[in-house]
Amino acid sequence: MPEVEIRRPFCCEYRYMARFSPLTRMAQVFTTPHSPEDFLRLVNPLSSSRQLRGIVTEVIPETEDSATIRFHPGRGWHAHEAGQWARIGVEIDGVRQWRSYSLTTAGGEDPAITVTAIGAISEALVRNTKPGDVLFLAPPQGDFVLPEHPRPLLMITAGSGLTPVMSMIRTLVRRRADADVQLLHSSRTLDGSLFRDELQELADLDHGLTVKHWITSEQGRIDLSGTKDLDAAVPDWRERATYVCGPTEMINEAEALWKAAAREHQLVIERFAPVILPGAGGAGGHVTFEKSDKEVDADGDTTLLEAGEDVGVVMPSGCRMGICQSCLVPLVAGQVRDLRTGEVHGEEGQLVQTCVSTAAGPVHLDV
Ligand SMILES: Cc1cc2nc3c(=O)[nH]c(=O)nc-3n(C[C@H](O)[C@H](O)[C@H](O)COP(=O)(O)OP(=O)(O)OC[C@H]3O[C@@H](n4cnc5c(N)ncnc54)[C@H](O)[C@@H]3O)c2cc1C
Ligand code: FES
Repeated sequence: MPEVEIRRPFCCEYRYMARFSPLTRMAQVFTTPHSPEDFLRLVNPLSSSRQLRGIVTEVIPETEDSATIRFHPGRGWHAHEAGQWARIGVEIDGVRQWRSYSLTTAGGEDPAITVTAIGAISEALVRNTKPGDVLFLAPPQGDFVLPEHPRPLLMITAGSGLTPVMSMIRTLVRRRADADVQLLHSSRTLDGSLFRDELQELADLDHGLTVKHWITSEQGRIDLSGTKDLDAAVPDWRERATYVCGPTEMINEAEALWKAAAREHQLVIERFAPVILPGAGGAGGHVTFEKSDKEVDADGDTTLLEAGEDVGVVMPSGCRMGICQSCLVPLVAGQVRDLRTGEVHGEEGQLVQTCVSTAAGPVHLDV
């Protein structure tokens, strides 16, 4: 434990302390100039009123490229519903980086995430996380959740898109006698398929789960541009409430197919990446981050969020795909392009969604 100088508080500090409970005031007399919280944090890393944290309890390798990280969240967390996700922050080279991950345990249980290494942050989470590490957290959110009333369900997933659906399956199967879930999961190889053994065990229990693997290295991708593949795999798909999570192309095709079948009200989707208008990027521009005193040339494919992070600006962020609004930053000058629509806009003081916007010429941001 580091040495801490203990001194009596000054009179202005007594006035400040009068706002707190007698117990807190007593603790502050003994702990000033540090707060009681500073001492608590030495023994309990989850203790912080400012930033929700969790402590890693277990790391389970899943495939060559993925791992499940279980953690125990501190004060401020609330139980997740099956299918929800949370923002997870990790410190890499002294910079706190945030990404979103679906919570894979059954609804209400101590949470876990299952991360597939595809970029710098997920790679660090999969390869370097160990029990005892502290994760920064934001509470669970998202509306990709189970319907209120039990009904026949169809889950179509690919790769790491299985994660929110795994939470739903763990919540339903074993616990609900009326569960009726068809899972059609696509992966490149059977060996590289997430949760394969557990899914097989659950299916063998005969508790209402049927698992169908679609192996793209042998069968090609599931073609949802027509009904042929679906009719063969799940003939009664039109009668089922359907949850789809996977690559953008799969989700886009599912939306069109369910619409054509007049079943769009039965389809619930979850995206892990924003829908970008092809060719929307433009030429980019020079970006100045005024408060951080940093600047960079960003091309038309680099979002303002990525451009800032690349030069070490602490950028606010959340989902990184245009749904949560956590990344808003005031525009000081210049114009930005929305990658989802290609629209160029910019008025001084306007809040820019930096995760889906690029520079359209010189841009000054108030961050
Ligand atoms: C609501 C939500 C839930 C998510 N749940 C999970 C999860 O349970 N497990 C998980 O591993 N990831 C999940 N992600 C993706 C995750 O947040 C990160 O985007 C991912 O780990 C890549 O981060 P990175 O920093 O390593 O790579 P980056 O360098 O940030 O990303 C590399 C590129 O990969 C794209 N990308 C993101 N996810 C995928 C994907 N699954 N397949 C293909 N390309 C992708 C990104 O859009 C980006 O263009 C989720 C994302 C969202 C928005
Ligand atoms: S980070 Fe969620 S909208 Fe930009």
